[in-house]
Amino acid sequence: MTPLDLTTRRADTDAPLITPLVERWSPRAYDPAAELSDDDVRTLLEAARWAPSANNLQPWRFIVARRGTEAFTTVHDALLGFNQAWADSAAALIVNIAEVADESGAPRPWAKYDLGQAVAHLTVQAQHDDLHTHQMGGFDGARLAEAFGLREGLEIVSITAVGKVGDADALPEPLREREVAPRRRKPLDELVISAA
Ligand SMILES: Cc1cc2nc3c(=O)[nH]c(=O)nc-3n(C[C@H](O)[C@H](O)[C@H](O)COP(=O)(O)O)c2cc1C
Repeated sequence: MTPLDLTTRRADTDAPLITPLVERWSPRAYDPAAELSDDDVRTLLEAARWAPSANNLQPWRFIVARRGTEAFTTVHDALLGFNQAWADSAAALIVNIAEVADESGAPRPWAKYDLGQAVAHLTVQAQHDDLHTHQMGGFDGARLAEAFGLREGLEIVSITAVGKVGDADALPEPLREREVAPRRRKPLDELVISAA
């Protein structure tokens, strides 16, 4: 295995940031031998649990599927082809679910916002713990919801691959090329509409 020089993946920031934010990125090459312990998983979920949410409703739910389990196969099978091509080496696939309506059908308008924030916490904690994450929107949500018997009001929003970074050379082209491509962001002045 040829490990990627992770310094090339660091964000080229215009202001100083805490290390996990500088180093977080979304690899597609994962070490197919790496596993997550129960403690690893608990820590990731705990980071999500302590995210803020509207009215403290905590409308996030997760399905954790570690590689080698039936649940992992179910989640992997529901990924779209361009994600299936690399995500099989991740140590776990975590299905991120928003409670967009409670059991009585009352809407939770901030649920997806809150879920996104919880997942962001998880990714930063993962990076701090020397794990990497890669979120995905490319999957068949209806198929997954049926496979896991999710009730109405629970919406699968994304899936996060978690694992130890692996060998970029093991990826098929053009994924290998994307793995080492420069990381880019819009300039800050394009994002800020007004700052007084
Ligand atoms: C909601 C969401 C959906 C995404 N969907 C996919 C996906 O289906 N497949 C994929 O390879 N990457 C996906 N990504 C990863 C983004 O492409 C990636 O975060 C972005 O290019 C920035 O790269 P970085 O995370 O390395 O900074 C997704 C990210 C998010 C937050």
